[in-house]
Amino acid sequence: MLRTHTCGELNAAHIQKEVTLCGWIQKIRNLGGMTFVDLRDRYGITQLTFDHATSIELSEKAQRLGREWVIKATGCVAERHSKNRNIPTGDIEIIVEHLEVLNESLIPPFTIEDESDGGDELRMKYRYLDLRRNPVKNNILFRHKLSIEIRNYLNNIGFIEIETPFLIKSTPEGARDFVVPSRMNQGEFYALPQSPQTFKQLLMMSGYDRYFQIVRCFRDEDLRADRQPEFTQIDCEMSFVEQEDILNTFEGLVKHIFKTVKNIELTDIERISYADAMKYYGSDKPDARFGMRFTELNDVTQHRDFKVFNDSELVVGFVAEGCAGYTRKQLDSISDFVRRPQIGATGVVYLLCMENGSFKSSVDKFYAQDDLKAIADKAHAKAGDLLLIMSGVTEKTQKQLCELRLEMGNRLGLRMAGEYKALWITNFPLLEWDEDTMRFYAKHHPFTAPKPEDEALLELNPGEVKANAYDLVINGTEIGGGSVRIHNKVLQQRMFKALGFTEEAAQQQFGFLLNAFQYGAPPHAGIAFGFDRLCAVLSDCDSIRDFIAFPKNNSGRDMMIDAPSAIANEQLKELGIQIKN
Ligand code: AMO
Repeated sequence: MLRTHTCGELNAAHIQKEVTLCGWIQKIRNLGGMTFVDLRDRYGITQLTFDHATSIELSEKAQRLGREWVIKATGCVAERHSKNRNIPTGDIEIIVEHLEVLNESLIPPFTIEDESDGGDELRMKYRYLDLRRNPVKNNILFRHKLSIEIRNYLNNIGFIEIETPFLIKSTPEGARDFVVPSRMNQGEFYALPQSPQTFKQLLMMSGYDRYFQIVRCFRDEDLRADRQPEFTQIDCEMSFVEQEDILNTFEGLVKHIFKTVKNIELTDIERISYADAMKYYGSDKPDARFGMRFTELNDVTQHRDFKVFNDSELVVGFVAEGCAGYTRKQLDSISDFVRRPQIGATGVVYLLCMENGSFKSSVDKFYAQDDLKAIADKAHAKAGDLLLIMSGVTEKTQKQLCELRLEMGNRLGLRMAGEYKALWITNFPLLEWDEDTMRFYAKHHPFTAPKPEDEALLELNPGEVKANAYDLVINGTEIGGGSVRIHNKVLQQRMFKALGFTEEAAQQQFGFLLNAFQYGAPPHAGIAFGFDRLCAVLSDCDSIRDFIAFPKNNSGRDMMIDAPSAIANEQLKELGIQIKN
């Protein structure tokens, strides 16, 4: 090896030792007869010292070095005169005797510091430089540690990691596929997997009763802070289990992760049904770090002359404790928030519960003090509280009030970093009606089993069928989702029918699975966690990009290698793809 030590490990115990370090130059300081160089590698920073009095040649060589040059330095470890208490190597320095330049560097386009002066785009273009910065490096190391802990835990309880193919068959359900043309089968395409769902089910049929894989998945969907076109799942499946077994097994995994990477003892994960999550939080991924649960207020609001409420399917509100003293300006800014196009509400009704027991509201002319008291009581608002109410069509109103709840949580500092609240959301509906295409879609995916007691409803009232499907939510982010699966050909055919597939289409697209069900398919269930999201949530970050070594930007572009890009006509011809002029 070119070096004897790293730049992060030397301390007072090494004084007088001869060492060789390699690394990148973080900083050079010339102080008259002395030149100090901060040398950096993955492990830390060590100060190199060049004394003009000892060697003019060496000292002048050091002064010619530049930022981010790669060097090798040999010398003796010495105690520092002015110690740096902020870094582990701060007690010592290396009095350099030999210096070798391993490679020069151009001046980097942004500073390689914890707080860089480079904008997002620039740092994406030079991602290999951005990865040198501590905050990014620490995220990458954190991700590694997390993956090791996950593998340890699952391995210890008998899960085996099995790889599944990346070149598979395109299916119309779910998000859009990324497709890959086949040269050997011209005019035909592979798709990259959105998840290994059908393969892990097939592995259950092959008898590998505890499978996992930390695996890349590909989805051609609109991107956001928590979505990348390629992302990683911790994908798991088990045979001979019920929902309860999955929840318990993976609650164990989640607790193990919190304990080992965060040193946090997570309490038992609370379970809440999909229906209650929507009713109390207006979302199937509530941030339960704080209260402000919703109260439905139809019965106490719809008996007066306020037409807006009377005409609404749902009148619903939540209490912002201690906010009755809000100024006009503060109340207006709440109104402005809900009127933003992203939220799209027409307004919000406020009710201030004054300390003297009286009430003030934006709808005073329609409601007497007694009415307002009844509304406040129903919502459990006390003197000093502010009640915020919205109304309209149920689902839309719930969503809008959910946004306002999160905003108020932010404004009141209730969404605390370092605090974690995990929830299991259970009892999802099996199907979801889509008004645009006038058909049902699988809420989770088409392989999710209806609850046995609801099976008969599949043809009679599909919208009412519930599934043993579950999501893991942490701090308002959907971290994982899974379900008990169908393992019976006839039931799977009924499911495809409910989704509008003809028998031929189902056979053509999923014949391999339907056939496999006929050869001894065991009952099975599973779950997949978003690995990138898990990294981000555990680190109190919004963006999963920060935890991916080479991510794409919001237009799905890799700015560094400039992909996607056009390909040569020759290559297209070989693939049998028509060339556009
Ligand atoms: P699902 O589609 O819910 O389930 O995905 C599982 C988890 O993957 C994460 N995730 C994403 N993360 C980053 N970028 C994306 N574009 C993205 N899309 C999803 C989420 C999500 O909870 N096969 C089923 C699982 C199963 O039933 O076992 C599946 O893929 O955290």
